Amino acid sequence: MLTKVITIHKQKPEKELIQQAADQILAGGIVAFPTETVYGLGANAFDEKAAMHVYEAKGRPSDNPLIVHIADFEQIRDVAKHVPKSAAMLMKAFWPGPLTIIFEKNQNIPDSITGGLSTVAVRMPANQIARDFIRACGVPIAAPSANTSGRPSPTRASHVLEDLNGRVHAIIDGGEVLLGLESTIVDVCHEKPRVLRTGFISSDEISDVIGMPVEDKKNKVHQEEVPLAPGMKYTHYAPKAILYIVDRTKFQKETLEPLMDSIKKDGKKAAIVGTLEHADFYSKKTFFSLGSRQDDEEVAKNFYHVLRQLDEQQIEVAYVEDLSDLPLGNALMERLEKAAGGRHL
Ligand code: TXA
Ligand code: MG
Repeated sequence: MLTKVITIHKQKPEKELIQQAADQILAGGIVAFPTETVYGLGANAFDEKAAMHVYEAKGRPSDNPLIVHIADFEQIRDVAKHVPKSAAMLMKAFWPGPLTIIFEKNQNIPDSITGGLSTVAVRMPANQIARDFIRACGVPIAAPSANTSGRPSPTRASHVLEDLNGRVHAIIDGGEVLLGLESTIVDVCHEKPRVLRTGFISSDEISDVIGMPVEDKKNKVHQEEVPLAPGMKYTHYAPKAILYIVDRTKFQKETLEPLMDSIKKDGKKAAIVGTLEHADFYSKKTFFSLGSRQDDEEVAKNFYHVLRQLDEQQIEVAYVEDLSDLPLGNALMERLEKAAGGRHL
């Protein structure tokens, strides 16, 4: 399959180019497109066969459901059985934006998209190209992140091309994304609302809007294990390098330099990943900067790109600064823990 790259202007998306991409979807194809969080790999959410192609292209296990993306509020009726009051409040407060809400699904949505679940995850992205594209398709768009299953999520069209060239019909290149971490996922179908994946919108912000406590991993209302989004059990966001998360107290020259030296002696390539405030300590060649601690949104935006750079430079072992004290620390660490397979120094 030949993958067509369609470059579209971020602020003023060209109508005819958007239509070209939408035509691929309407012909049953799969198209990667930018959202404000990460790039998605889209298919017509009513088309079971197209959805299967998404799973194939990503190498994604079929029990891991997709998020359905809509362009306008009314479109929720095509996807959800009904809209609970708390969901309506969240839609009003946070849509369009980086919040995915779980609904009871209506019969239009094939089981293959929801991994056999009776619920469906829905999001209205804030990115102008994404909304114009979904609107031009005229159907809701099922889209996981546009990476090969298990790899870091794509924040640039070049990342999508790296993973999926020849496996998708088209890629809309809308430049680098705005945020760089996947949406927060919240489940308000059950009596106790809970956050299944952390992102830019925190459980406290959600709790303020719906006027109820919201369970998340750090803030459990009850002791039982929080059931995660089905996808969260798989290896995620991982570069090929073995990553170690390094406590801030140990993230210093004295600790890391001897370790780096012994890895180099074994003939392996090692790297340090951290915030700009530490850049001075290390030679430029082995230090990968996430950006300044003063700007955690910049750190979030760079996060997946830096993980991909480790692969590009064939790094085999990397020591990564613990980021939990940043305002976006929960969201960043949820992903870093997965990428590192829970390894700490
Ligand atoms: O920001 C985002 O959410 C990006 C962009 C493209 O919108 N999408 C994204 O999709 O991150 P994906 O497929 O990489 O992650 C979707 C997550 C998975 O962990 C999946 O298990 C969960 O959402 N999910 C989907 N449907 C669900 C459902 N009905 N119940 C619980 N979790 C669900
Ligand atoms: Mg993903």
